[in-house]
Amino acid sequence: MSTKLSDIRRVTTHQLHAMKKAGEKISMLTAYDYSMAKIIDNAGIDVILVGDSASNVMAGNITTLPITLDQMIYHATSVVKAVERALIVVDIPFGSYQGSPEEALKSTIRIMKESGAHSVKMEGGIEIVESIDRVLSAGVPVMGHLGLTPQSIYKFGTYTVRAKEEEEANKLIEDAIALEKSGCFALVLEKVPAELTKKVSRKLSIPIIGIGAGPHADGQVLVMHDMLGINKEFNPRFLRRYADLHSIVSGAVGAYISDVKSGSFPNEKESY
Ligand code: KIV
Repeated sequence: MSTKLSDIRRVTTHQLHAMKKAGEKISMLTAYDYSMAKIIDNAGIDVILVGDSASNVMAGNITTLPITLDQMIYHATSVVKAVERALIVVDIPFGSYQGSPEEALKSTIRIMKESGAHSVKMEGGIEIVESIDRVLSAGVPVMGHLGLTPQSIYKFGTYTVRAKEEEEANKLIEDAIALEKSGCFALVLEKVPAELTKKVSRKLSIPIIGIGAGPHADGQVLVMHDMLGINKEFNPRFLRRYADLHSIVSGAVGAYISDVKSGSFPNEKESY
């Protein structure tokens, strides 16, 4: 049996590069808590993103903007305790790095020291290169994020596909090259045309992780709550649901309520 690069015990940024080189796709999912992180790490996921999508799926906010650095560190700390194999990336939240490279470094140091995570992710292109430099100079690996960048939702106005027009596509390619040059170890491309992803993936030697970015990315990421079917309301075209946890949980809770009401739970065997 041949050993795949992703079979090794601890996933590193170097290994992700090697996986791209070898044509082995990278799997990435979000997680925000100990119990779910443990399940997806044991299942063999390569990268776990403690995404600021926690603001939506854990805290019920409409956007990712309200989540704080303290809240991200809380989620990251819980995930780190559970994970033995996957590389853990933590989103630096809105308002914790855009001010200056010093602010980016300060927030990164808090995330790394307090949670024990392995790397951070920042949204943006050329405008954040100085901040990436500063974080990298402290020895912390950085993942980039281009295309639909949810922290800028009020600038975009909608969650529709980005970079469909040539001008925006060219700007995205320039940004991607700048992020690779600055030393990012990987790049998330969100909601962009599949052909643009193909172009960027061929141009760059760092892995491109897509979400709604088509099949040519070097890996794929989804928000765990979406792919497990916990959220019923979110139905973008790019989302494949691998389970219907909404129905399973709701059915189980319904059965529990009915057993409690009827007095059939607990029975004799379930009592002391
Ligand atoms: O926060 C998040 O979940 C993300 C993914 C959508 C890539 O940034």
